[in-house]
Amino acid sequence: MNDSIQFPGLSPIPPLGIGTWQWGDTLVWGWGKGYAENDAREAYRAGLESGLRLFDTAEVYGLGKSERMIGEFYQANNPKPLVVSKMFPFPWRFSRQQMLRALRASLKRLGLPQLDLYLLHWPWPPVSLESWAESLAEAYQLGLTKAVGISNHSLSQMERVSKVLAKHNVPVAANQIEYNLLQRGPERSGLLAAMQAEGIVAMAYSPLGMGWLTGKYSLDTPPPGRYRSQRYVTRKESLPQLLKTLEQIAQAHGATPAQVALRWCIQKDTLPIPGAKNARQAQGNAGALSLELSKDEMIRLDFVSA
Ligand SMILES: NC(=O)c1ccc[n+]([C@@H]2O[C@H](COP(=O)([O-])OP(=O)(O)OC[C@H]3O[C@@H](n4cnc5c(N)ncnc54)[C@H](OP(=O)(O)O)[C@@H]3O)[C@@H](O)[C@H]2O)c1
Repeated sequence: MNDSIQFPGLSPIPPLGIGTWQWGDTLVWGWGKGYAENDAREAYRAGLESGLRLFDTAEVYGLGKSERMIGEFYQANNPKPLVVSKMFPFPWRFSRQQMLRALRASLKRLGLPQLDLYLLHWPWPPVSLESWAESLAEAYQLGLTKAVGISNHSLSQMERVSKVLAKHNVPVAANQIEYNLLQRGPERSGLLAAMQAEGIVAMAYSPLGMGWLTGKYSLDTPPPGRYRSQRYVTRKESLPQLLKTLEQIAQAHGATPAQVALRWCIQKDTLPIPGAKNARQAQGNAGALSLELSKDEMIRLDFVSA
């Protein structure tokens, strides 16, 4: 298990970050209804104060709002965390040169001269993965980012990108993938094992199952909105037992189900990046860093989530 996570070429950080898709997103997360900019500001501060040292954003989150807010909060607070952003391969981005343009626009919104980690958000056409990989290498060589990686890439897609980057002596620092107690596909496909063998950091996104694993939702009271409420609908049968087990383990530790779900990700040697809408959520999630699940508890969680 990792006490810290190290991306190639970057300082080690605690094995939990903060996701910021929520900051500015009205469509899925309801930005402006119950939480707004001051809550994001407080979440940023609470995350730093609780020892978290990585913020994950993307150009598409809140159509640039998330990057802009991180830029403002970054200037106003110390210490400085790692900042990760991503390029979305929109279908009208038909040439690989558009990646550098997108990266420079992200840097401008963030008010930074250089990113810590820049990712290709999805492995989608029309530009080939090999071409995008060439641009990732170029971004790295130009010093626009200290490390590069990918997101939502399968094992074979990751190997294609790795091959191109290796020609330039640039490591694939991370693959950001959906991984949680309701989505264990990366274990079954061999992707997680391959990443761990190759020293590629597995950044676990939606580690709380978009809220389903926090203990505040159930099949009778699902998360708000069509997308979130339908997200893990195929897991309907196993969900009640999983939620019950999370609750029992949480109680035994004086912890919350969310902390147990995040700790499970950490003890699977991944870097969970839970989204936080406010300081309470950011601080609560950071509690997973000081939790320790026993071997038996990990086996129980593996069993009920299988
Ligand atoms: N690369 C990609 O394609 C990709 C895709 C998805 C996400 N991501 C990244 O991963 C991050 C995390 O994933 P996610 O946002 O999809 O889902 P998540 O982290 O599984 O769930 C986050 C949501 O859970 C609830 N929550 C969080 N902490 C809580 C706490 N301590 N107690 C109670 N409720 C809590 C909040 O929603 P409510 O308060 O509304 O319940 C919060 O918005 C994103 O922010 C983004 O940075 C990347």
